[in-house]
Amino acid sequence: MDKIIIRGGKRLSGTVTISGAKNAALTLLPCALLTDEPLTLRNLPRLADIDTFQHLMNQFGVSTAIAGSRPEDFGRVMTLEAARITSNVAPYDLVRKMRASILVLGPMLARMGEAKVSLPGGCAIGVRPIDLHLKALEALGATIEITAGYVRAIAPDGGLSGGRYSFPFVSVGATENAIMAAVAARGKSTLHNAAREPEITDLCNLLMAMGAEIEGIGTSDLVIHGVPRLHGATYRVMSDRIEAGSYACAAAITGGEAFLANARVEEMEATVQALRDAGILIEPRSGGLQIAAEGPIQPVNLSTAPFPGFATDMQAQLMAMLCCSEGTSVLTETIFENRYMHVPELNRMGAQIETSGRTAIVKGVPKLSGADVMATDLRASMSLVIAGLAAQGETNIHRLYHLDRGYERLEEKLSLLGAEVERVGGD
Ligand code: UD1
Repeated sequence: MDKIIIRGGKRLSGTVTISGAKNAALTLLPCALLTDEPLTLRNLPRLADIDTFQHLMNQFGVSTAIAGSRPEDFGRVMTLEAARITSNVAPYDLVRKMRASILVLGPMLARMGEAKVSLPGGCAIGVRPIDLHLKALEALGATIEITAGYVRAIAPDGGLSGGRYSFPFVSVGATENAIMAAVAARGKSTLHNAAREPEITDLCNLLMAMGAEIEGIGTSDLVIHGVPRLHGATYRVMSDRIEAGSYACAAAITGGEAFLANARVEEMEATVQALRDAGILIEPRSGGLQIAAEGPIQPVNLSTAPFPGFATDMQAQLMAMLCCSEGTSVLTETIFENRYMHVPELNRMGAQIETSGRTAIVKGVPKLSGADVMATDLRASMSLVIAGLAAQGETNIHRLYHLDRGYERLEEKLSLLGAEVERVGGD
């Protein structure tokens, strides 16, 4: 299996181009199911998860074509056309590779009147049930059956109808599924306590471009007037705010600086604030964000929270950076119950982190040391990369499967910033 070798201690400096957002792309792609006309998505990141989603769409009979991008470009353009859907089943083999496959449930149900999706099951960061997805669809009139590891959603004769659903707590995926179903339901739907993540705004903006009627975009109360027909569109996927935050932590831990091209401060204010609290300078500039570490990293106390709070998807990377701070930081993970899988690995590199339930106490150390490490989820893997950039000696990151799911051309981008990093076959 491949591994990434990082020889730490190089100060990062330069420009990194932030790719299209994985999590936005994964909710924009299933929108192709809502229309028989072509949907063209630009700035799609080149990632394993996007390839898996493409296979899933092909398996429904959706045609996909990739055009107009040279290998040296970041991102791709994909046109999806669901003129005729030949299957409404998302099979176990694809869903187990990628939980986000559940996002086909709402649009497939709306278009075909029925959808069957394998239950995603647990994952490395926790149990992750889908009960809210199902309750929101029930509020639109769907009947839900769970048999043999599959969830089957069936619309009444005449299709889904508008409904009202109040999420008991914020769920990004359940909000996305509910929106994609409601835009094509008959009548008015209201969603209360909806997630407000920028990826949801991106989804709503695409759906509006396809002819949907949505009020309250960017707020936790959405009013959706179902339309009888959605049409094709061409749309650019937003920039990846988590990738941007990850590179900010990477540059900062090396005492370096970086221009994050395409990053937008409005979409990552909590991350920007956390980095400023850590003493990092951040300035919005035309076309991106300039970050610079000046002086030692300061400790930070924070809790993860739904947007606009500090993203759980940034917790591991910020923690890695704080391992090298001048003091003790306290981080609390409120979204997922098991999201400290990176802690033992960071400690093997010389970090001093103790966890107790949902809280992690990070005592800054003067130096980390390179080691062989591996992680069980995407952001945890990136935290090990960040630690490796500052560590003395060589860090070997194993099990690259997760990084390839979520970071487009990681080694190339880090090398352009001056890191000593290479991918080798081995193990
Ligand atoms: C999305 C993101 C993921 C991010 C997370 C939180 C994608 C593809 N993934 O995941 O990267 O970490 O948002 O920002 O966009 N929950 C339930 N029942 C449900 C749904 C969720 O109990 O039906 C719980 C989850 O277990 C979790 C919490 O709600 O504890 C939030 O999860 P949710 O916002 O739904 O995360 P995802 O959409 O799966």
